[in-house]
Formats: sequence, C-alpha cells, structure tokens
Amino acid sequence: MKTTDSKKTTAPKQAAKKSGVIKPKSDAASGLTELFEDGLKDIYWAEKALTKALPTMAKNATSADLIEALNSHLTETEEHVARLEKVFELIGKKATAKKCDAMSGLIEEGKGIIEETEVGVVRDAGIIAASQKIEHYEIATYGTLRQFAETLGLSEAADLLEQTLEEEKEADKKLTIVAVDAINVEAAEAD
Ligand SMILES: [Fe+2]
Ligand SMILES: [Fe+2]
Repeated sequence: MKTTDSKKTTAPKQAAKKSGVIKPKSDAASGLTELFEDGLKDIYWAEKALTKALPTMAKNATSADLIEALNSHLTETEEHVARLEKVFELIGKKATAKKCDAMSGLIEEGKGIIEETEVGVVRDAGIIAASQKIEHYEIATYGTLRQFAETLGLSEAADLLEQTLEEEKEADKKLTIVAVDAINVEAAEAD
C-alpha cells in the first residue's frame, strides 16, 4: 500500500522534471493581482537596498558629475520607496519587502567592481557600468508593474509607477552622458 502511494506521488514529479516544468510553491500566485503584489514587494526591497548602496558608490566615485548624478538619484530613490508605500496603500496592503535576488546580485556585482578597480576614472567607469545595470533592471521592473496596474484598472497606482519609471530612464540617460562626455575616454587613456 505504502509503495503504491509513493509511486502515485512521484509520477507527476518525474513528468514535470522531464518536461522542465517547475512545480509551483504552495503560496504561488494564481492571478495577476498576486503577481503584481509580489513584484511590488520585490522592488520595494530593491529600492530600500539602493538607498544604502548608492551612498557607497558615490563615496567611491571621483568625478564630480558622477557624484552629483549618484546623489541626486539617491534623493529620487528615497522618493521611489515612498511612492511604493503609496501604491501598497492604494491596493489596501501593508508595505512589505521581499528579498530581490536580482538586485542583491547587482549590488554585489557593483561592490566587486569597486574592489577590482583603482580609484579614479577606471573605478568611475566601473561604477557607471554597475549603476546602469541597476537602472535597466528597475526600468524593466517598473515597465512591467505599470502595465500590470493598468490591466488591473489601478490607474492611480499606474501613474505613480510611471513617474518612477521616467525617473529611472532619466537617471540612466544622465549616467550615459557622464560616461560618454569624460570618464570612458579618460579611462581608455589610462590604459
Ligand atoms: Fe528606483
Ligand atoms: Fe534607479
């Protein structure tokens, strides 16, 4: 009897393994609302982590333009945290942070780049590279969340997410300008 039961339970597992389909967790999202909430928790963690990571990047930068770009984006990032809290409030949920593995990895990578570069233009170029990966992750995330909010008919939440999305895009553009205008050329000259 015991043998038959265990066979019954392992058969679907084997089938899932074979086709590459990952078994959902017991608390897996079953609708777009839940997926939206999960995404909010994830980016809420990420933004909070960035309020700690950006000052470290600014302290390790040399270019005045880069330091300014990082510090002004820190102020915006604090606003992103507050905006997300507003979005949670709009959907009647408590603001909760859930560890974002992707952002955690990007921040770690940024620290690694700092450790592996000499202070000056080369480190600045590395900090820009790491920061732009972070901005691109945020752009992708906010683009998705704003679309989810729109689909769910949450127009006020969609507007808030759109505002942050635009600021992430601007931050990314500003970093490109700082890199192209001076840092990358000087870093190449340092070779
Ligand atoms: Fe942000
Ligand atoms: Fe950002």
